[in-house]
Amino acid sequence: MSKIIVIGSISMDLVMETSRIAQEGETVFGDKFSMVPGGKGANQAVALGRLSADGDQISMLGTVGEDAFGSLLKDNLRANKVETEFVGTVPLSSGIAQITLHNHDNRIIYCPGANSEVHPEKWDSQWELISQADLVILQNEIPHEANKIIAEYCKDKKIKLLYNPAPARDTDHEMIALVDYFTPNEHECQDLFPDQSLEEVLKTYPNKIIVTLGSKGSVYCDGREIKTIAAIKAKVVDTTGAGDTFNGALALALAKEASIDKALKFATLASHLSVQKFGAQGGMPSLKEMKENEHYEENWNFE
Ligand code: RIB
Repeated sequence: MSKIIVIGSISMDLVMETSRIAQEGETVFGDKFSMVPGGKGANQAVALGRLSADGDQISMLGTVGEDAFGSLLKDNLRANKVETEFVGTVPLSSGIAQITLHNHDNRIIYCPGANSEVHPEKWDSQWELISQADLVILQNEIPHEANKIIAEYCKDKKIKLLYNPAPARDTDHEMIALVDYFTPNEHECQDLFPDQSLEEVLKTYPNKIIVTLGSKGSVYCDGREIKTIAAIKAKVVDTTGAGDTFNGALALALAKEASIDKALKFATLASHLSVQKFGAQGGMPSLKEMKENEHYEENWNFE
């Protein structure tokens, strides 16, 4: 049974589906508008909650706003088997992501709002919870200073830490030495290491840097060679949240001591299922749905 803690953003996604992207100074008609829970942190927590088995404990630490979205976002986490005892409420608006969905792919403008108010330097009982974790996950939609304090604590206490540097920022470099797993996508990797090839980056950080390549799968170096885990072909409806599903599933498998190879295959199937439905969290599979899929391997055994 595993205890996993996600610390990060909790946002409302305002999604406009459109067949045409507006140019500067132009107004175009959208096809459909939806409001769905999102935020990279909350998405990863929901992915974990859905994939968790009886006895697993998934907790979210973060902050929502004192607005109509705040309580909806917390309720949504609880409905997906995520504990919210340490999700605070602050007198700001909740985080908002304005998403344009065009050709099944997304463009996102993110406004942190309450997500900028994560202050580990003021925490007390939160550290007790973290000290018991099998694994902690972080992303980049809360302040870097907060991530750094948490990463230093985890390093000191030898708690496994998976860091998803999304969206990429320059300060990510100082996180690499503090974390066990570092999971940029190919664009974030390119931003962070503009002068190195993907192969050089992976070989510099064996068994630590895992790069997701969208429909081309994911890659890491096992210390001897570069390993590629192929993606599974899917009929894509919406790629929003695919990376979060991948990171959540990866975290679950790693917390349960799976090898990187096995954990990546599990994460690949979860993200394959997630892109087939609308919304960041809409397609995230339950463990049951994973097991019913033809690509699920019996020996994964993530009970
Ligand atoms: O990774 C997808 C998420 O990032 C969306 O749910 C949105 O909240 C954005 O910030």
